[in-house]
Amino acid sequence: MAEKFINVTLKIWRQKNAQDAGKMVDYPLKNVSTDSSFLEMLDVLNEELVAKGEEPVAFDHDCREGICGMCSLYINGEAHGPDRAVTTCQLHMRMFKDGETITIEPFRATAFPVIKDLIVDRDSFDRIMQKGGFVSVNTSGNTQDANALPIRKEDADNAFDAATCIGCGGCVATCKNASAMLFVSAKVAQFSLLPQGKVEAQERVKNMLHQMDVEGFGNCTNTGACEVECPKGISLDNIARFNREYMKAAVLGSE
Ligand code: SF4
Ligand code: FES
Repeated sequence: MAEKFINVTLKIWRQKNAQDAGKMVDYPLKNVSTDSSFLEMLDVLNEELVAKGEEPVAFDHDCREGICGMCSLYINGEAHGPDRAVTTCQLHMRMFKDGETITIEPFRATAFPVIKDLIVDRDSFDRIMQKGGFVSVNTSGNTQDANALPIRKEDADNAFDAATCIGCGGCVATCKNASAMLFVSAKVAQFSLLPQGKVEAQERVKNMLHQMDVEGFGNCTNTGACEVECPKGISLDNIARFNREYMKAAVLGSE
């Protein structure tokens, strides 16, 4: 597709700090290359704001190639914007029309408080991971070679797919209940499908679910919106796997 240049109006959430009430502010931006990425477009806006002596818009980013899960914008009412299976940093301006108004907000959830402008605090995800998103390994030097453990191809593939969750929080921002179930279920499924994850399976599923509640995430009501907006295509099948793991832990735990 040939490069074009478009004019857009950005409606951006500006909030000085966690205490500030915040408000939407309009920024007209001219001659935006359709070949530029969404974050490059914001870089251009920020250069203009700095040149005018105004405060640049704060937004999260790191790798800018869909790996780290840092970018987190809610664009025109969708987590990571109108494209599918991409993060905000992989979104391109060719997805927008000349003259379009683009609304940009932070990911909104009680468990993701706004730090500044478009940056939210996602430490709640880290605290959930600290409750079980790991395998305790024997590092004594006597550990078995991983390839010595036969694993069904289907299980290995499903575990790998679950492990592609980058912890961006798009599922939470999308969910009307602000539930973190797609994220937590991907982490639980990743381990439950492999022999290494079975040892701590009961504690993991119970502790991670408990921490999700403690952090103030909502309950899952199976709307499925999270799967649609997830940039990594994490499947709802993982929520079914999570529920089976939880039932198993509840039954075995009461014996
Ligand atoms: S499940 Fe998808 S949307 Fe949710 S944190 Fe993982 S990658 Fe992001
Ligand atoms: S900046 Fe790393 S995934 Fe977008």
